Amino acid sequence: MKSAAAVTRVFVCTAQKDDVGKDVAKAFKIELKKQGLKKLLTGGSGSKVRVQTCNCLDLCKHCKKGPGAAVAIYPDNVYYGDVKPKDAADIVREHLGDGHVLKRLLLE
Ligand code: FES
Repeated sequence: MKSAAAVTRVFVCTAQKDDVGKDVAKAFKIELKKQGLKKLLTGGSGSKVRVQTCNCLDLCKHCKKGPGAAVAIYPDNVYYGDVKPKDAADIVREHLGDGHVLKRLLLE
């Protein structure tokens, strides 16, 4: 059965020593609102975007010490690393808006 309103989730790791993950999550929320993408229209059906902070995603080896946070986008199965608050605008516009993976932050 197909669900009527799909949800895209942006999970932001907050396991860093500073509060960068929380700041990244806040920046995502602000950008989604600013760019009018809280609700997406994909293939004619509505979709919502939710930003959620979470414990360590265990996706990176360095972001506990580094300057950014890891971000997972579900169900797209795309993971970004070293994400700083200033990067939220690009990820929202390019990934969530235009549907392109942002290669410069991609974790492989
Ligand atoms: S510190 Fe959690 S994924 Fe890097």
